[in-house]
Amino acid sequence: TDYKNILVEQRGNVTLVTLNRPDSLNALNTGVLADLIDAFAAYEADDTQRCAVLTGSGDKAFAAGADIKEMVEKDTAQFFNEDFFAGWTDDFTRRTRKPWIAAVNGFALGGGCEVAMMADFIIASDKARFGQPEIKLGVLPGMGGTQRLVRAVGKAKAMDLCLTGRMMDAAEAEASGLVARVVEHDRLLDEAMEAAALIASMAPLAAMANKEAVDAAFENTLDQGIKYERRLFQVITATDDKTEGMKAFVEKRDPKWTGR
Ligand code: HXC
Repeated sequence: TDYKNILVEQRGNVTLVTLNRPDSLNALNTGVLADLIDAFAAYEADDTQRCAVLTGSGDKAFAAGADIKEMVEKDTAQFFNEDFFAGWTDDFTRRTRKPWIAAVNGFALGGGCEVAMMADFIIASDKARFGQPEIKLGVLPGMGGTQRLVRAVGKAKAMDLCLTGRMMDAAEAEASGLVARVVEHDRLLDEAMEAAALIASMAPLAAMANKEAVDAAFENTLDQGIKYERRLFQVITATDDKTEGMKAFVEKRDPKWTGR
């Protein structure tokens, strides 16, 4: 499929999606959203694809936020009537049960930081910068930034970032728990694709179940979450891949997954 705002490439069983509006530092407009919704639905539906990576084109930015030039023209009635930004939370990856990684190659600001936080985890270049600078535009984050940032880094740093609009470098982002790994800038895509390939080599149903269980930690009390995890564990023991995985261990060989 040809998209206007993103590039999509299948490398083996990993789908690489690249935000591709380098002239505006990959600013996220309505067209990007439409393309991403379509590309992630296609990824989800394609049985040959087991993990996805989202990154930004160019050397400078993952995404420098929602497209300010698109928003500057809109009035409140339009924002409200369109339920502006709802598509990012309701339609973008909400139905993506397969794993995906954000490979943050530069600025991840505003909506860019928010989209990165929608990923299952973030691998960052040592040149990455994160922030929620919306306050400097006289507004606030609108795609979940205030909520996901608190869960990722705690109230102190989230409040600091939202109220001052300052940027956090990769080292601070890693120390505060926002990103899973920081890697040398030139190694970012290789590292992210290797991590994705490793995930893609796992039993696919188990990958979905692991993702669902970790995500449940954000929605439930500890008690409910532990019970949810236990039930998912019990369900997954009914799969052929459970039998194969445990047998392969005992027989000291590599497992051959069927996704059943
Ligand atoms: C539209 C953007 C943009 C954005 C950058 N550009 N960010 N266009 N929307 N979010 C455009 C610039 O206008 C410029 O195009 C080109 O990209 C290069 O950017 P420069 O500013 O010239 O680059 P530089 O000086 O290196 O500064 C990089 C930067 C800065 C620090 C990242 O661009 C910046 O502060 N961007 C805005 C970051 C931001 O506020 N993001 C949050 C957006 S609000 P031209 O053609 O003009 O030269 C959001 C959620 C909103 O995400 C929720 C509220 C409802």
